[in-house]
Amino acid sequence: MLDKVAVSVRDLRMTYTSTKPVHALKGVSIDIREGEMLLIMGPSGSGKSTLLSIIGGLLTPTAGSVAVLGSEITRLRRKELARFRLRNFGYVFQGFNLFNAMTGAENVELAYNVRGIRGRRARKASRDLLAQLGLEEHANRPARDLSGGEKQRVAIARALAGDPCAILADEPTSQLDTENGAIVTNILSDLARKRGTTIVITSHDDRIRRGAEHVVQLDDGRL
Ligand SMILES: Nc1ncnc2c1ncn2[C@@H]1O[C@H](COP(=O)(O)OP(=O)(O)OP(=O)(O)O)[C@@H](O)[C@H]1O
Ligand SMILES: [Mg+2]
Repeated sequence: MLDKVAVSVRDLRMTYTSTKPVHALKGVSIDIREGEMLLIMGPSGSGKSTLLSIIGGLLTPTAGSVAVLGSEITRLRRKELARFRLRNFGYVFQGFNLFNAMTGAENVELAYNVRGIRGRRARKASRDLLAQLGLEEHANRPARDLSGGEKQRVAIARALAGDPCAILADEPTSQLDTENGAIVTNILSDLARKRGTTIVITSHDDRIRRGAEHVVQLDDGRL
């Protein structure tokens, strides 16, 4: 089962044309297996965020294709793509993007709510997830009062709500110290192993390399 391809990227090209053309991806192909944790490394401007956004269906490429569990998401219409994203992807961003006035548990519950799970079921599920990430004591505190590492774990719990097939994390450790960065990376690699969730992470931080079984290097839009 773990050898099944979850994400298949074929000859992806991205040219931004806002001012003068920027060729951010110049033909990227890669297969990512189910339950694999893939780390995409590379210097600033090499195209990491662009690649991750296209894989996650947040950005349309200039050319090439992305298939997720056999569905070619680069050919879906907007509405179908939005539904596909909600059902299949969880996102973790560098700046956490939590609702600061809401508690950690409420942030996660909201993610269940938008996936159609409400009320007591959502409350219980969110508490269970937070407990699995070692946050049971912090579940009721406003997100603004949590440490960076705790916020990022809430963000991971939120991404996991509804059991997506893939989690896409853009620089998830860049605002964390070494210890919290390692905790977050270990949680993600554990998830990949135990739940069979496919994880794609970008980073330009060499320290996070240890947790990943598969590392690729992006340079100037090429792998
Ligand atoms: N919306 C945009 N419009 C024009 N150019 C863009 C846009 N987004 C990114 N780029 C350019 O595309 C190239 C790749 O950017 P990208 O953000 O994917 O790199 P990155 O590897 O994620 O960098 P970093 O490590 O700094 O996050 C860069 O030259 C960048 O300036
Ligand atoms: Mg980036």
